[in-house]
Amino acid sequence: MASLQLPMVLATFFLQFFPGVYSSTFTIRNKCSYPVWPGILSGAGTPELSTTGFLLQSGESTSLSVPTSWSGRLWGRTVCTQDSSGKFSCLTGDCGSSTIACSGGGAAPPATLAEFTLDGAGGLDFYDVSLVDGYNLPMMVTPQGGTGGNCSSAACSADLNEDCPVELKITDGSNEGVACKSACDAFGDAQYCCSGAYASPDTCKPSTYSEFFKNACPKAYSYAYDDGTSTFTCAGADYIITFCPGLSTSLKSGSTTAKSLAVNYTSSAGHRHRSPTFIGRAITVGAAVWWLWHLF
Ligand SMILES: *[C@@H]1O[C@H](CO)[C@@H](O)[C@H](O)[C@H]1NC(C)=O
Ligand SMILES: *[C@@H]1O[C@H](CO)[C@@H](O)[C@H](O)[C@H]1NC(C)=O
Repeated sequence: MASLQLPMVLATFFLQFFPGVYSSTFTIRNKCSYPVWPGILSGAGTPELSTTGFLLQSGESTSLSVPTSWSGRLWGRTVCTQDSSGKFSCLTGDCGSSTIACSGGGAAPPATLAEFTLDGAGGLDFYDVSLVDGYNLPMMVTPQGGTGGNCSSAACSADLNEDCPVELKITDGSNEGVACKSACDAFGDAQYCCSGAYASPDTCKPSTYSEFFKNACPKAYSYAYDDGTSTFTCAGADYIITFCPGLSTSLKSGSTTAKSLAVNYTSSAGHRHRSPTFIGRAITVGAAVWWLWHLF
């Protein structure tokens, strides 16, 4: 027995200290009652993922392999349509590409963002849910199987589209709230944008608007310097990104555009299998448990 223990311990420790050697899996789930078109933008100098935009019907999920040290953001586009000329556009989160793939385009605010820097300082993944560019739907980022840091869910689970202050609110044709602007976006004021004389944590303070977001979503960024309670860290994790993680209200379930579109696009996102990374981690965790069991 003892001869088996050492290699297993070494393997476990190797994964603890060099988690960046392994890629990560993002599982993206749509628990909203309406279709969501996720968009993905890779950070400068990191590769594009196998898809930059696709459809997730209500209840669907898909998994993507994410390379070591990837950074970037992911968001949900809602109420998307394709016009007679084939131009694709979305009422919220549009990335300006005119196609389902975003191909390097970012989300037009307001949009809830999930932000990632994998294998950053100290070998930790940094992740958050941000409302700094406004809000368009509830989102949660949950690490799976990671260690170290504070490894728990970053989220804005609340549905803010109806409660949004009227001066920030964006509505669709039937006057239903579909998104909620940031105060920076709505008023362009340096004080809200943390720009100019306000471009530091000492000078840019929460406003009544950022506090509206923070009260509803304490585990999400409400303004640019909200780091302490909004940034999470973890090492060697896979991540589940969920749209509408809570009990979803039927915000757009009545929207005919959202419904009719649901049948038109097939999800182009990659594979739906357990990746080798996942299996490797499962074996390692199993070995660690076995070892601890025999040790005590
Ligand atoms: C999580 O840990 C990081 C340091 O690794 C810290 O900066 C951050 O404030 C913590 N986040 C929360 C929500 O406690
Ligand atoms: C769905 O696709 C068909 C055929 O391409 C098209 O005629 C129709 O307008 C599309 N529906 C929507 C809602 O885009």
